[in-house]
This record gives sequence, C-alpha cells and structure tokens, in this order.
Amino acid sequence: MTTATAISHPNIAFIKYWGNRDNTLRLPVNGSISMNLDGLFTRTTVSFSSAKTDSLAINSTPVTGKGLERVSYILDIVREKAGIQDRADVTSENNFPAGAGIASSAAAFAALALAGSKAAGLNLSEPELSVLARRGSGSASRSIPAGFVEWKMGEAESDSYAFSIAPVDHWNLVDCVAIVSASHKTTGSTEGHAIAGTSPLQDVRVADAPRRLEICRNAILKKDFEAFANIIEHDSDMMHSVMMTSKPPLMYWQSATVEIFHQVREWRASGLPVGYTVDAGANVHVICLGEYAKEIEKRLREIPGVSNVLVAGVGGAAKVV
Ligand code: DP6
Repeated sequence: MTTATAISHPNIAFIKYWGNRDNTLRLPVNGSISMNLDGLFTRTTVSFSSAKTDSLAINSTPVTGKGLERVSYILDIVREKAGIQDRADVTSENNFPAGAGIASSAAAFAALALAGSKAAGLNLSEPELSVLARRGSGSASRSIPAGFVEWKMGEAESDSYAFSIAPVDHWNLVDCVAIVSASHKTTGSTEGHAIAGTSPLQDVRVADAPRRLEICRNAILKKDFEAFANIIEHDSDMMHSVMMTSKPPLMYWQSATVEIFHQVREWRASGLPVGYTVDAGANVHVICLGEYAKEIEKRLREIPGVSNVLVAGVGGAAKVV
C-alpha cells in the first residue's frame, strides 16, 4: 500500500502530562489518563510517491517550516522502519475549529502515525503505534487506543505507550468545552514542557502523580463521579500551579476561566455531577454525566465571557478508513 487514510479523535487529560524526562523522545515525567472525544476528529491521508520532498496541507492550506519538519520527523521514523526512501504528501483535515481550545496535535499525530505506517506497508501493533504517535506529540500517544486511556511513563523509549483502561461504552461521560476568548497568544505545550522543571512545585507534583493516577483510575473503573471530579480538579489545579510558578511564568487562565471554576463547584455542591479540567489555555473542559450535558451546556452559555460550548462524548480508537 502506498496511500492510507486514518481518523483519530482528540483527547482530554484527567491526569495531566506536563514535563518530559527526555524532550526529544517525549518521555514524560509522569503517567497520564484521558478520554477520547467523540464527534471531533482529524482525518489524515499519507501518500508515498516519487516527489523530492515531503509536503503537508492542513485544512487545504499548505504548511512549511516547523509544522512540516515535525511531520517529516515522524515520516523519517516510518521510512526507517519500512526500509523505504520515498517522500510523502500528507493532507489533514480537522472537523473542529482551530483555536477552539482543543489540542489538535493529539489527533493529528495519532492519525499521522496510523496513516503513515499503513501507507508504508507496516502493520504496527497498538503499543507500537502509540509510541510512534508519542514521538510527534506526547498526548497523541493517548489518541491511539479507544475510550478511557492511560499512558504509562515506562522505563525506556519502547514501553512508554498508552492503552485502554475502559472501553467507550463503560461510562457515559460528556465533555462540555466552554470556549473563553483569550486575547493574547499563549505559550504552546512543547515550550511549556521544557520549562516545567523550573517550578519548585514540579518535583512535588511529579512525586505525587502515582497517587493521583490510582485515584483517577479507580474512580473511572468504579464510576465514582464524586471521587473522579475531585481528583481531576485537583490534578488540573496542580499542573496550573506549576505553570504559574515556572520561569517564565505561564498564566493561562482568564477571568471567565476562574468564574467557571466557582460555578462548577457550586453546581456540584448542589448535587449536579460535574467537574472541571483545563489544558494549556483558557478554555474549561466541564466534564459531566451524559444525562446532564444539556443542562450544563445551557448554564455555561449563560456565563459572561463564554463565547461557545462544544459538546463531546467518549470517543473510539484511531482507525484506518
Ligand atoms: C496540558 O502533548 O500538546 O494538554 O508533546 O509538546 O506536543 P507536545 O505536548 P502536548 O502536551 C499536552 C499538555 C496538556 C496536558 C495533557 O494533555 O496531558
């Protein structure tokens, strides 16, 4: 096969990946847990040909420079594994808006790893695909398996991969992403990981990670929403404490971000199964039980500073189409 197309979903981390022990290999300092986001996806086609260079188009716009280099880096690993020299045309489309606060790199590199390896004639196992996706973007390792996923830090390059801890239909959770318009460009995750160690709080966060992973894993397996909401908020707040105390400091929150935290905690205190988590941006991922998603979406839209709300259930594995 010289052409292949793959689809994969972005994911939202419940226990966060923040900081690498090896920035080039993207070997994380702690394990992480996430869920894939259904309905949102990246579709990527890789075609190997006799062209002289790799090319990349995202949503029909040609991409060169750093963006293309990052893709070629993954294609180089694929070429080496397959023993081929051919260059590739890569076209990729997202069905979710850029700047919507949903990291596109996770879905993008998961789809690239799958489409690229298939197009090169390789039949990689799920762990091998997850490792390959990880080399492009750490969180992409978690968009390879289905449903609720854990990425173990591993001991070496080949055993730091993600696996499913529960299938899509295990628990009907919904992510209501409250879009909070950020007025300035924020620092990207790759630069953030590189300075995570400059915060005196990072060592404490990392040392405590096994405890948080266990609580979160158990809460998901037992479908204990109260324990789940408490641990995801705690973990997100810990990561942002590290971000805020890094050099230079990274302050991703806007006023509306904090307003949503207060509202979500009030709603939970009054009996609604709801909790928040935030990635490297101002938008708040408000996680709730599926039957409450309509009500939560409505309430979020009423909060000043919230410009839109995206709603996503639990998504499946990356797949060839
Ligand atoms: C805050 O996977 O986007 O979303 O490996 O440099 O591409 P790179 O970083 P990335 O980092 C994600 C950071 C996070 C937390 C998480 O998703 O676990």
